[in-house]
Amino acid sequence: MARRLYIETVGCQMNVLDSELVAASLLGAGYELVDSLAEADTILFNTCSVRQHAEDKIYSALGRLRQAKEQQPRTVIGVLGCMAQKDQQRIFKRAPHVDLVVGPGQLHQLPQLLERVLAGRGPQMEVSLDRKAGSRAEVQQSFGRYDPLRTSRARPARHQAMVRIMFGCDKFCTYCIVPSVRGPEQSRKAGEIVEEVRQLVDQGCLEITLLGQTVNSYQDSSGGRTLRLSDLLAQLSVIDGLARLKFVTNFPRHMTPDLLQAVRDVPKVSPYLHVPAQSGANPVLQRMKRGYTVEEYREMLDRIHAEIPQAAVTSDFIVGFCGETEADFQQTVALVRQARFKNSFIFKYSPRGGTVAGKLYADDVPEEVKRRRNNELLTVQNAINLELNQALVGRQVEILVEGPSKIGRKLGRQGEQIQLAGRTVCDRIVVFDGPLSLTGRILRVEVRKADDCTLFGQLPAPLVRLQ
Ligand code: 5AD
Ligand code: SF4
Repeated sequence: MARRLYIETVGCQMNVLDSELVAASLLGAGYELVDSLAEADTILFNTCSVRQHAEDKIYSALGRLRQAKEQQPRTVIGVLGCMAQKDQQRIFKRAPHVDLVVGPGQLHQLPQLLERVLAGRGPQMEVSLDRKAGSRAEVQQSFGRYDPLRTSRARPARHQAMVRIMFGCDKFCTYCIVPSVRGPEQSRKAGEIVEEVRQLVDQGCLEITLLGQTVNSYQDSSGGRTLRLSDLLAQLSVIDGLARLKFVTNFPRHMTPDLLQAVRDVPKVSPYLHVPAQSGANPVLQRMKRGYTVEEYREMLDRIHAEIPQAAVTSDFIVGFCGETEADFQQTVALVRQARFKNSFIFKYSPRGGTVAGKLYADDVPEEVKRRRNNELLTVQNAINLELNQALVGRQVEILVEGPSKIGRKLGRQGEQIQLAGRTVCDRIVVFDGPLSLTGRILRVEVRKADDCTLFGQLPAPLVRLQ
């Protein structure tokens, strides 16, 4: 009988993609995917180390499985991804019933490692070299590539897909664990990416999101001339059948004029730019080692809006970073108010072992102050979201219909209609009633109402009649 695989994923889009690729390769090895822990005999956690909370969640989930493993010793439990790379042997110490620890650079070995566990060869661990444990080439080599064949059977959405264009990060922002656990920055060859996108479009994908930790520092010099993200967008844009191209996450200093022009001029590229600022105060930015001042960040925003007036810009912020004063925090609030981001993702600083800030700076902002700053910034951003969304009421927006909305999935069909959800090019969520057959269509809906996170739409009369 086929082994039954359950994968739980926490963390960023890179992890969601890795889980999809793992699922695809194990489907190819004869596994079957199941939707719950209870049905599974192979349980994999694809983990995140960016904040303590994400790690705690996994360790408690592992704790809850201890008894199940005692009762069913043939159940295989694996820890994949960033936490595997960061904690390594410590995972076996804290959770001795774990069979597998596999870093993000070794996911390609997973089918063989699972076979070894099943053959009774005991716990298996494969991780990459520490970034200081060898030359750049050696470390790079140890972070193996992971870009297996894509199959729609493993993809969470039929009409949308993510494509990795680079691995790792070299920025070493002082709070961030990513450069240690995901390794050195390495761009994939443009030709390979074009091929993969073609394959996905052939499988029915209309929207492709290019992924990289600093996606706009993409560089492929393998063919003589250096290709940048702007060149890659132009190469991908001509693929027949592709409708939308997005890319995340941008680093402020690499928002170069050629990229802004590409977003403006290259067909199919969404005018949606996620460019995290992290803070609005220079002393904090400096301690974070972000490599820009808030004045430079504002100047970059001005260039974006001058070049692409319809651009939607989103950001990430960390509140309560080491030494952040109330005045520093108020500068962050001022930046959010002035920039009027389409959205901001706000995080409380979480000290990480193995980072410069974790070693050198005291985590000196009390938890309740972090929480208050988080809520205050969120309130400011939510009010902006509401204003920006309400400005769309009465207008038509173009959406890609993704399928039933959360409510649609819960309530099911009302006659021929179900509540559907779609996304605009700027990543706004629109819900509306319509037939399920509209899934995967790009169409215009009229916005009738808006709150701070959702637009409520209606199909225009001709489409309603067509049904
Ligand atoms: N604590 C809190 N937030 C963090 N991020 C990265 N490292 C940390 C940390 N140690 C946030 C940053 C980044 C996002 C993905 O996670 O804002 O942009
Ligand atoms: Fe982390 Fe900075 Fe790299 Fe982003 S750019 S992954 S925040 S080190």
